Amino acid sequence: MTILLEICIKIGNMGFMINNASFPQTRLRRNRQSFAIRSLIAEYSITTDDLIWPVFVRDNADNERAIKTMPNVFRYTIDELDAVVDYAKKYHIHALALFPKTPTHLKNPGGGEALNPDNLVCRAVRYIKQRAPEIMVITDVALDPYTDHGHDGLLENGIILNDETNDILKKQAKLLIESGADCVAPSDMMDGRIGIIREYLEESGHKNALIIAYSAKYASSFYGPFRDAVGSNSLLRGDKKTYQMDPANASEAIREATLDINEGADIIMVKPAMPYLDIIRLVRDKLPVPIFAYQVSGEYSMLMNGVSAGYFDETKIAMESLLCIKRAGASAIFSYFTPKIAQYIKDNQ
Ligand code: PBG
Repeated sequence: MTILLEICIKIGNMGFMINNASFPQTRLRRNRQSFAIRSLIAEYSITTDDLIWPVFVRDNADNERAIKTMPNVFRYTIDELDAVVDYAKKYHIHALALFPKTPTHLKNPGGGEALNPDNLVCRAVRYIKQRAPEIMVITDVALDPYTDHGHDGLLENGIILNDETNDILKKQAKLLIESGADCVAPSDMMDGRIGIIREYLEESGHKNALIIAYSAKYASSFYGPFRDAVGSNSLLRGDKKTYQMDPANASEAIREATLDINEGADIIMVKPAMPYLDIIRLVRDKLPVPIFAYQVSGEYSMLMNGVSAGYFDETKIAMESLLCIKRAGASAIFSYFTPKIAQYIKDNQ
C-alpha cells in the first residue's frame, strides 16, 4: 500500500513538474534557434530509404508520354525504363512500383491480359530486374488496368464478383512473381484475397514473395489522375464503393488490416495518405506490422497545381507532406514526388 502510494505520488509529481514548466525557465524557442539544434532534436526525417517511386509504363505504339492531370509525371516505354533504372540508382531509390497503361484493344470484360506472361508489366519487370536486380520491384494485383469496365474485379449484372475475381488474382500474383517481381501489392480490396494469394504462392514455391496488402484502401476521389494515367477513367462504370472502404469509417481499417495480417500479408498499406493520417496512426498504434502509405495521384496533383500557381515551393511542400505522413506512423511512402525529392536530398547532403 505505502509503496503503491509512493509510486503514485512520484508519477503525480513528475506530471506536476512538467505541467508546471514555465517561462522563463522554459523557452521552447531555445531548441529552435539554429539548423543544428533543430536537426538534432528532430523526431522524424525523410530519406530515400522511406520512398517508393510509382512508375507508369506504356506500350511502344502509345505516344502519350505526358499525363495531363499529373504535372511532371510520365508514362515510360520499356526501353525508356533504362533511364528510370539509372536515375533510381544514381539517387538511391531502392523500390519501384509499376503500373501499366494497357492498350485499349487488349482490355475486355474478364481482364484476361492480366494473365498474359508477355503483357506490358511482366515485360517491364523482367527488363528492370535484368538491369538492376537490387532494385525492389513492386507490382499491383488488381484487374483494373485490363478490364474494359475499369473495375478491379469481374463485373456481372452490375455486381463485382468476389471469389471468382480472387481466382484470377492469385494467378496474376504468381505470374508477377515468376516474372521477377519481389513484391505483389493487391490493391483490389476483394475479401479473402491475401490468404488465397499467400497459399497459392507457398504451394508454388514462392516462399519469399512479399505481399503489401492495400488493407485500408478507401473509395476516394483522389485517385482520378491515376485513372487518367492508366487509361481507365473514361472506361470506369459507376464507382468502387462496394469493395473499397467508406471514407466515413475508421475502426473498420483495423478489421481489414488484422484480416490481411492473419492471411499472410507482410506489410499493410493505408491509402490515400494526407487526408487519412488518422488512419495511419490508428493502424500503427494497434498493429505491430510495418505500415506503408500511398500519397496518391490526386494529392500529388493538388499540390502541384499549387506549385504552378505560385502558392507553394515544390520541394518544401513535398518534404513537409511526406514528413507528416511519416510522423503519422508510415514506415515508407509511395509518392510521385520520389524522383524530385531523391535528387533534392542528394544535392543537399
Ligand atoms: C488500382 C489502383 C488505383 C491506385 C493504385 N492502384 C486506383 C483505383 O483503385 O481506382 C491509385 C493510385 C493513385 O491514385 O495514385 N487498383
